[in-house]
Amino acid sequence: MSQPIHLVQPAPFPRNRMRRLRQHGWSRRLVAEHRLDASDLIQPLFVLEGRNQREPVPSMPGVERLSVDLLLPVAERAVELGIPALALFPVTPLECKSEGGEEAWNDDNLMCRAIRAIKRAFPEIGLVGDVALDPYTTHGQDGLVRDGVILNDETIVALVRQATCLAAAGCDVVAPSDMMDGRIGAIRAGLDEAGFENTLICSYAAKYASAFYGPFRDAVGSARNLGKADKKTYQMDPANTAEALREVALDIAEAADMVMIKPGLPYLDVIRRVKDAFQVPTLAYHVSGEYAMIKAAAERGWLDGEAAMQESLIAFKRAGADAILTYAALETAERLRRGD
Ligand code: PBG
Repeated sequence: MSQPIHLVQPAPFPRNRMRRLRQHGWSRRLVAEHRLDASDLIQPLFVLEGRNQREPVPSMPGVERLSVDLLLPVAERAVELGIPALALFPVTPLECKSEGGEEAWNDDNLMCRAIRAIKRAFPEIGLVGDVALDPYTTHGQDGLVRDGVILNDETIVALVRQATCLAAAGCDVVAPSDMMDGRIGAIRAGLDEAGFENTLICSYAAKYASAFYGPFRDAVGSARNLGKADKKTYQMDPANTAEALREVALDIAEAADMVMIKPGLPYLDVIRRVKDAFQVPTLAYHVSGEYAMIKAAAERGWLDGEAAMQESLIAFKRAGADAILTYAALETAERLRRGD
C-alpha cells in the first residue's frame, strides 16, 4: 500500500530567478563583477628602422610594424585614450643580428632610439622593453648557444647589459622574457649598481613554450632565424602549473615588481593560482596567436570579432589579472571610449 503524498508547500515555480537581474542592460551593468578599463591595457608595438615605414603583419590583421616617427602618433593616441603603457619590440635588420646578439646592448639600437623618441614626446606614458636576445641573434634563441645548448649563466651577463642599456635610454619597465634561471636577481643588481634603482622589472615569470607565439615571430622576423628549433629547454611545459608557482616565487624573491603569465587564455588557471598565492601585480599576455585566431575567424565571418575580443579580455580580469598586454589595446580603448 502506498502512502498518500502530502506536499507541505507546493512550489511548482522557482522563487529564485537568476534571470531577474539579467533582464535589463542597466541591471546587468549594475551587478557586473568585473569591468575592463583602458587603464588595464598595455599595447605592444613592433618598431621598424627608417622613416615613414609602415608594414602590415599578415598573420596579425590590423597590426603594423611602424618606424619610430610613425609610432609617435600612436603613442599620442594611447595617451589620449588612457592606456598606461606601451611594450616595444624591435624588428632588427638581419645585418645587425649576430651569434652573440651584441646589438642588444648597443645604446643606439632601434629600441633605444624608439624609447628616447617616445619618452621625449610623451614622458607620461610607460614604456616596457623586452629583455631577451632573440631579436638580435642569428639563431633566434633568447639566450647564448654553445654546442646546441642554451647557456644560462653566460646569457644572464648579456641580459644585464641589455636591461641596463634599455634603462639608460629611458625605459620605465624592463621585462625579461627569456626564462633563464636567476636573471631577475642579476638584472636587479645590475640596474641598482648602474643607478637605475627605480627602473621597474616585470618578469615573464611563467612563460610557456607555446605555439601561440607564431605570428609574433613573423612580426619581428625571428621565425626564419629560429627555423624548426624550439625553446622547450627554457620556456615552461604547458602541462605544468605547480612549476609556475615556483617560478613566480623565485622571481618575487629576486625583486620582480610585477609578474607576467604568458600566453593568456589557455593559462587562465595559472593566472588565478598565481594571484591567489602571491597577491602581487599580475599581468597577462594575450599573445599574438590568440589575437590572430580571433581576427582570422572574424575576417571569415565565423564569429563577431569585437564581441569575442571583449569576452576574452574580461576573462583575464575574472581570472585575477591586474593588467593585460594585448594587440587589441588601442581598438579596445576606442570602443570603451565610445561606450559600446
Ligand atoms: C621573445 C618574446 C616572444 C614573445 C614576446 N617576447 C616570443 C618567443 O618567446 O618566442 C611572444 C609574444 C606574442 O606571441 O605575442 N622573447
